[in-house]
Amino acid sequence: MLQGKCIILGVTGGIAAYKAAELLRLLVKAGAEVHVVMTRSAQEFITPLTFQTLSGNPVHTELFNLIQEQEIGHISLADRADLVLVAPATANLIGKVANGICDDLLTTTIMATRAKVLFAPAMNSNMWENPIYQKNHAELKSFGYHFIEPAYGDLACGWQGQGKLPEPQKIFNSAQTLLASNTLEGKTVLVTAGPTREEIDPVRFLSNYSSGKMGYAVACAARNRGARVVLISGPVSLPEPEGVETIQVVSAQQMYQAVMDRAGQADLIVKAAAVADFRPVIRDAQKVKKGGVETATVELQRNPDILAELGKQKGSRILVGFAAETEQLLTHAREKLEDKNLDMIVANDVTQEGAGFDSDTNIVRFLTADGKVEELPKMTKAEVAELLLDRATALLPGH
Ligand code: CTP
Repeated sequence: MLQGKCIILGVTGGIAAYKAAELLRLLVKAGAEVHVVMTRSAQEFITPLTFQTLSGNPVHTELFNLIQEQEIGHISLADRADLVLVAPATANLIGKVANGICDDLLTTTIMATRAKVLFAPAMNSNMWENPIYQKNHAELKSFGYHFIEPAYGDLACGWQGQGKLPEPQKIFNSAQTLLASNTLEGKTVLVTAGPTREEIDPVRFLSNYSSGKMGYAVACAARNRGARVVLISGPVSLPEPEGVETIQVVSAQQMYQAVMDRAGQADLIVKAAAVADFRPVIRDAQKVKKGGVETATVELQRNPDILAELGKQKGSRILVGFAAETEQLLTHAREKLEDKNLDMIVANDVTQEGAGFDSDTNIVRFLTADGKVEELPKMTKAEVAELLLDRATALLPGH
C-alpha cells in the first residue's frame, strides 16, 4: 500500500517512544522505505538498534556526522521524503519547530523538507493543555502541518487525561491517508465560513454564534489535498490559513458578491457559512439612542440566499450546503437539499452536546441527492472535513 513511498520517522524522547517501533513495523510491512531519525533524548528510551533492525536502514541521530552526511545527508533525506512522521512528538519538539529552532537533525530535517509533516504529540495532560503548547500547535496547523490528536487515558506520569500517543495502527492510518491524498490536484474549491454581521448602526449588529471552525477545517483539508482554495470568511477570530486565498467579508450582501464573483472558477463549493437570513431595512448612520421608549422594533428585510442562487446556475459544479437545525433535522435538511438544488447537505442538530457552533467537534449526517443518508458519530471538525471531501470528491465529474 505504501510501496515506493519514502518516510522519515522522527522519534523524540517520550515514554511512548517504544510504540514507534510498532509503527515502524506497520510502515515497513506496507512497503514503505523508512529512515528513522532519533533525537538524543529518544535514545534514553529506546536504542537505535531496534529501529535499525526493523527498518533495515541506518538510524540517523547526529546533525554533524560526516559519515552519515556522505551516505545520505540530512538535506537529501529531507528532499527525498514523501512524508515526515514524528511519533511521539514531545512539547519540546513542537515548540522548537513552531519557533523556527533547528538545533538537531530532526528539527533541521523538518525545517528543510517540502514533504508533508505529520506530528503525533504525546505528553503529560497538563503540558498538553498549557496555552503555550496550544499556541505552538495551532500555529503549526495554520502553516499546514498535520496533527493526530493525542488520546485520552491513563498517562505514564500517573495523571489521567488527554496526552496519550494514539495506537500505532491509528497513526499508520493517518499517514496512509495523507500520502494518498492529492485527490483535489488541479481543482478549485470555494469555501464560505463563519457568520455574517448585519449592522443596525455603527456600534450594533445582528449575527449568530458561528465560529468559522467547520469552514476553515474544510478549507485546510482541501488545501492539503492539493486544491486551489478560496475561502470567503465572515468575521471570526481564527488565523487565515496558510496557502489559502482568504477573502474577508462582513455582511451577507458582501458574501453574496464575493461568492458570485468567484463561483465561476470553482469545481466544488462548500457553503459552511451561517449567513444571516435578514438585515435591518435601515442602517442608521449614527448610534441609535434609547430615547425614553420601553420597546423598540428593528424592521428586517431578506438577504439573498447565496446557496439557492448558486443552485440555480449550477452547471457541472458540485454544491455542498450545511443545515443547522434544532428540530426535524432530516426533514428540514432534505427540503433544503432539494429546494437549493444541492448535491449534498451536511445536517447537524445544533442542540446536541458536542455539535454545532463554536464546538471543536460535530455530529453530522450527510444527505445526498440520490436519497441516501450517512449517519456519523461525534468527531472533530477536521475529521468531518476529511469525510466531507471524500464524499464530495467522489461526486466530481470523472470520478
Ligand atoms: N445560506 C446561504 N445564504 C443565505 C442563507 C443560508 O447561502 N442567505 C446557506 C448556508 O451557508 C447553508 C445553507 O444555506 O449552507 C443552509 O442555511 P440555513 O440557515 O440552515 O438554512 P436556510 O436556508 O436559511 O433556512 P432556515 O433559515 O429556514 O432554516
